[in-house]
Amino acid sequence: MTPEARELAGRRRFLSSWWGWLKLAAGIILCYPLWRFVRFHVPPKPRFIKVEKRLLVGDVHLDPEFALFVTADKAWAVSRTCTHLGCRLNFSQEEKQFICPCHQSRFSPQGKRLAGPAQKDLPVFKVEPLAEGKGYMVTV
Ligand code: FES
Repeated sequence: MTPEARELAGRRRFLSSWWGWLKLAAGIILCYPLWRFVRFHVPPKPRFIKVEKRLLVGDVHLDPEFALFVTADKAWAVSRTCTHLGCRLNFSQEEKQFICPCHQSRFSPQGKRLAGPAQKDLPVFKVEPLAEGKGYMVTV
């Protein structure tokens, strides 16, 4: 092979590899809007759940979705869905902990993970007292 032919072959290889990279970059740029469209997800609207129950200090109200706690200065609600695989948590009054019946994860009443395979804390929901002490509005 002559030096000119070798140089021409090297140039062709260089140009064809750049053409391949250029096509790949163009494909990624053109697919990006489609990928964004497919991945777009509308956040769920908040739901308002009224707990029409007068709770005393230290009381716990267990709803299927959350547990509502009331102390002297505040009220808070914690999700009852385990952050491991989604089992419904039980609240142990004796141990003052949420205990998952599936794999024994434990959470504090404030939703902090204490033990078990769950890695995340429980979501805490916003609670507002209703007028004249008639209960609470929980935003889930
Ligand atoms: S689902 Fe609760 S610990 Fe696994």
